[in-house]
This record gives sequence, structure tokens and C-alpha cells, in this order.
Amino acid sequence: MLILEKLIIDGGTRLCGEVKLQGAKNSVLPILAASILCDDECYIDNCPRLSDCNVSMRIIRHLGKSAYRDGGSVIIGNEEITKNDIPEDMMREMRSSITFLGAIIAKMGEAKISLPGGCELGPRPIDIHISALRQMGVDISENHGLIECKVRDKLRGAVIALPYPSVGATENIILAAVLAKGTTIISNAAKEPEIVDLTIFLRSCGAKIIGAGESTVIICGVESLSGAYHKVIPDRIEAISYMSAIAITGGTGELIGVVPEHIMAVIPIFEESGCKLQSTDSGLSITAPERLGAVKYIRTMPYPAFPTDAQAIIMALMAQSMGTSVFVETVFSGRYKHIAELQRMGANIKAEDRVAVVSGVERLSGASVSATDLRGGAALVIAALGADGRSEISNIHYIDRGYENIEGKLKKLGACIARVNLT
Ligand code: EPU
Repeated sequence: MLILEKLIIDGGTRLCGEVKLQGAKNSVLPILAASILCDDECYIDNCPRLSDCNVSMRIIRHLGKSAYRDGGSVIIGNEEITKNDIPEDMMREMRSSITFLGAIIAKMGEAKISLPGGCELGPRPIDIHISALRQMGVDISENHGLIECKVRDKLRGAVIALPYPSVGATENIILAAVLAKGTTIISNAAKEPEIVDLTIFLRSCGAKIIGAGESTVIICGVESLSGAYHKVIPDRIEAISYMSAIAITGGTGELIGVVPEHIMAVIPIFEESGCKLQSTDSGLSITAPERLGAVKYIRTMPYPAFPTDAQAIIMALMAQSMGTSVFVETVFSGRYKHIAELQRMGANIKAEDRVAVVSGVERLSGASVSATDLRGGAALVIAALGADGRSEISNIHYIDRGYENIEGKLKKLGACIARVNLT
């Protein structure tokens, strides 16, 4: 059931203090999918309390394994999976349910799923996933949104050249390949830190994978996988979000646990806008100027370039900067839905197709706005923190998909923020 809640934010308070980062959402979801490949118990530490993690746990239980939370960790049992389908309601709840496909096929030899849901960021086809699995010996039919997969003989390794370094497709191929017969070579693979984290987990379980984090990943199939303890990496997009929250209020703070290398493409953006960043023993500190300067040009691209997941967030910052910034979104065609909401707060943004031109205003003004997707929702929170007056943000279930206790963490930094229940 959808709980109707709002965030109420009184903007203008300078944020100061420490933020301890959650485990990375986009790491933990494929790792939870990977756990169904394992014969022994898996202990996944630093697992954020997010609605998407709950959906993953429900899928794992549906498939036949136990999955329960123990504080900050999730434990997946050693039971065999007994089902090969994912119910449509679970598939619809999040995009990354598609990552279970490769794992179910590897374990059961067949799978039945419907097309995945998730944030509306424009068309999100799965043709790259399907074509790769076909190359590995899977017969796939698609009828009325239902995808039925059956391994012809045995799942077999293949040489797969991706037409685009899709994160989800790279993960799906790895999950299928670890138990396939023979060697799989993926070229033009996605290089995101979350892919590396997934392979670290799989290698602890006995998988043979080399090259993760590079363009070419080689996987030699093994007979079976054990279980493992794994600590999920810190969430780089959460780090960028809190850095932005601090920056828009002219504040100062420290991101505990951030791996600076994971946010390399975003560090120069903060520096160009006048923030001072410094590595510390526990992460990274940020001190923002009273008013941010504009960053001239931001173009989203696959890792290690500027992440699409940070586009809306940095756009909120630039909406209140001194000058004009140009954004080009190359990854998702429909990832500008937050612009209309930022405009309600007084932002001066003109967008056409993949390009948005942001002319910074002196001060955004509080307004009633609605989260349109996960990162677009985070952008509204950031804009509201910098704005004059009160903002009410609705549809915050999108934000809860990716941020654990966002109001608690912001309150700790000094923000005037409250969550109210409307039901
Ligand atoms: N694409 C295709 N065909 C495919 C697969 C992808 O055309 O078969 C296209 C997509 O439509 C998109 C582009 O390729 O235009 C990139 O998609 P990709 O597969 O790389 O993304 P994803 O796996 O669906 C993950 C993250 C997203 C993040 C993207 C890009 C997870 C659970 N999701 O999605 O995270 O934006 O990679 O980095 O890992 C978020 O956290 O807010 C979020 C949306």
C-alpha cells in the first residue's frame, strides 16, 4: 500500500555537520539478485533501508529463499530456489527487478517475468539484456509484456559486444555467466563502481571474474557458488546529494565514508562553483561559498564521466547560482521532469530535447511541488533547502526508493524539515 506522505521544508538554514553515507542502492540491488545463485547463506552488510531493497527481499522470498533484516544487514538463507517467475506487481515496482532475470535463468534454466517498472525516465528498453542472453543459448519469447526464457541445452559462455555500456545488462550477463558452461567475454561493459562491487561479492562466493571496472570483463563459469559476507560500498549519489544540500545553503560538512574516486567527475563541478573540498581521514569535507558560481557545461555520460543520477541534483544547485549553466542529458531521454517543478520554485530553466539552459536566480522561493522520480525528488529537496520560505514536497515515495531516512540526516545537519503523513 502506498503511504501518502509529504516533506515540509523551511529553507534558508545553513547546513553544517557530518553525514554518514548509506550503502549504495545500485550495488545492493544486483547483489541481492546474485544471492539467489548461492548454495550457502549470504550476509550482506551496509544494506540501506530502502523500499527497493524491501522489494528485492520479497522477490527472493517468492523464489523460495529466506531473506530477513538484522539491523543494517540482510541475511539470505541457504534454501534452494524453487520458482522461476517474478509476479507482475513486484516487477512493476522497480526497474532493477530485471537483474533477477540472468540469475533465475542460471539457476533454473528457465524464467518468466513481465517488463520491469521503475522511475519514468523515458523509454527503458531491455533489448541489450535480451540479445546478450540469446547469445548465451537462451530462447526468449516476448508476448503482451510477458518474457519467457528457456535455456536450449545448457547456458553457455559467449563473446558479447554491448552496443552501449548498459549497467543493468552488464550485471545480468555477469549473473548468468558465473554459472554458465565456459567463458563469457563482455566488451564495452559498464564500468560503474557498483559493477565492481557486485563482482567482489560474487568472487567471495567462488565466481571467476576478471576485469570488472574495465571495458572488458571475462567470466569463467563455475559449477556452484557458496555464500559470503559482503559489505556494500558507500552510495556515491547519496554523497553528491548531501554535498549539494550543504552547498546550496552555503554550509560546511563532512561526508563520512565517501570514496572520492567514485565521484571524481563531480568534484570539479563543486570546485568550479566555488566550494572547497578536502579529503579527510573518514571521507571528504566541503565548505561552500555564500553564493555558488555557475558551472558552464555539464554532460551526463556512463561512468567514469558525470553521472546521469546527479544531473537533477546539480541542476537544483545551479538554479540558484550566479550565472548560466548548460546541461546535456545523454543517458536517459526523459530525465528532465523535475524542471517543471523547479520552475514552480522560481527557477529560470529552458529545456529542449536533451539540452537545458539554467540561468541562476538570486533566491528560489518555497512552493508546493511534486517529486517526479527518485533523483528529481532529491533535487526538489535540495532546492527547497536553499529557497526562501516553506516548500511542501509530495510523492516522496520516489525519494524513499533511494534515500534512507533523508529527513533524519538533514535534520542532523540543522535543516528545518519534517515528514507528515497525509493518510
Ligand atoms: N538501454 C537500452 N537497452 C537496454 C538497456 C539500456 O536502450 O537493454 C538504454 C536505457 O534506455 C538508457 C541507457 O541505455 O537510455 C542506460 O541504461 P542502463 O541500462 O545503463 O541503466 P539501468 O541499468 O537501467 C542503472 C541505475 C540507474 C542509473 C543508470 C545509469 C540501477 C538499479 N539503476 O540503471 O539508477 O541511472 O544505471 O547509470 O542500478 C537511480 O539510481 O536513480 C537510477 C535511475
